Amino acid sequence: MRERATRLGVIGCGGFGLYALQHFTQVPGVELVGMAGTHREAAYAAARRFGIPDPVEVEELVNRPEVDLIYIATPPFLHHAQAMLALEAGKHVISEKPLAMTLDEAERNLLLIANLMQRYNPVFDKVRRLIESKALGEFLHGYFENYANDEGLPPGHWFWDRAKSGGIFVEHGVHFFDLFAGWLGPGRVESAQASIRPGTGIEDQVQCAVRYADGALVNFYHGFTQVGRMDRQEMRLLFERGDVTLYDWVPTLIEIRAIADEKDTRDLCEIFRGARLDVTENYPPKDRTCTGRHKKLDIYQKFTMAYGLGEQKMHRYGELLRAMMTDQAAWTRDRNHQRRITETNGRDSLAMALAADSLAHGRYGDIGR
Ligand SMILES: NC(=O)c1ccc[n+]([C@@H]2O[C@H](COP(=O)([O-])OP(=O)(O)OC[C@H]3O[C@@H](n4cnc5c(N)ncnc54)[C@H](O)[C@@H]3O)[C@@H](O)[C@H]2O)c1
Repeated sequence: MRERATRLGVIGCGGFGLYALQHFTQVPGVELVGMAGTHREAAYAAARRFGIPDPVEVEELVNRPEVDLIYIATPPFLHHAQAMLALEAGKHVISEKPLAMTLDEAERNLLLIANLMQRYNPVFDKVRRLIESKALGEFLHGYFENYANDEGLPPGHWFWDRAKSGGIFVEHGVHFFDLFAGWLGPGRVESAQASIRPGTGIEDQVQCAVRYADGALVNFYHGFTQVGRMDRQEMRLLFERGDVTLYDWVPTLIEIRAIADEKDTRDLCEIFRGARLDVTENYPPKDRTCTGRHKKLDIYQKFTMAYGLGEQKMHRYGELLRAMMTDQAAWTRDRNHQRRITETNGRDSLAMALAADSLAHGRYGDIGR
């Protein structure tokens, strides 16, 4: 017998909502049945694009019996109230990140998912396997540098209004706090700063340092200052015997620089199957021994690897959204289904973002979780 489809209603269909729906509607077993929003012309156009009725009021949509799951793609300050309405009407909820604007709100919403789709990226698993394998030794340090564009964010946009967005750590940083927590486990925000664009009230740059197990620190920087065509990101993880760099905020390309013995080389080739390996130096038997961190190492080669060459970022982005919806919709039909992200991800990433935001603004009450 064919399983009944998960019927989706969407609240808010702006820039990102429309993009996400184009992917969610491709997922087998998911059917878009309704839309609610601010009745802008763009929402009517989106409804026509998907062949669904014109947008209705939020209360009406969440109370429709034919809706099983609500996707919220409104600005952050609306997520909590709209999610509560949907939950009270007995609907499942996938909310755009952040899950809420305060932890109190997030605590109460234990049946909610935030769209932290980074963990569905195949490169997430590759890096996690690399860390676990210790093929490059212990993890020592990392950074995420986000040189984001503000071309679509005019001065009056909700993004700059901290009461509506929660600030950059909350609105955007949550993705990367969740990603690194998936790799390194729980962390604690140690320090954070923010900068205002001179002559304006716009806070456009933030950074923080987070400490993970064994004392390793990771720096997170976000600046919304660039022109669209120069939007770029870089993530680096440093290990005892090499480093790994990922590019773009939805990473597709991984570059590795390493020294290794034969077994570690084989393990790296196994984890990054299909990667291009370029040998930089070979070490003859008399030169194999070296030391780092006061440890004696046996090394036969220095090389670089490139994994994911030629992959398209926008295609990967769509793939993640489809994978997230497939995973979560499966759970609405079968509670034994093991999901990749759960309510905990939304809550923990928000806790870290709020801690960073507090520290950056000179409030020291709630560091870490
Ligand atoms: N997961 C991701 O990769 C990703 C990427 C971009 C944006 N986002 C998130 O998506 C959300 C929306 O961002 P956007 O860039 O699409 O913003 P946007 O301003 O383009 O769209 C917001 C939409 O919400 C609607 N809206 C506003 N007030 C409303 C109300 N009271 N009731 C119903 N609808 C209302 C607007 O009409 C608009 O359609 C944000 O939370 C953002 O963080 C997520």
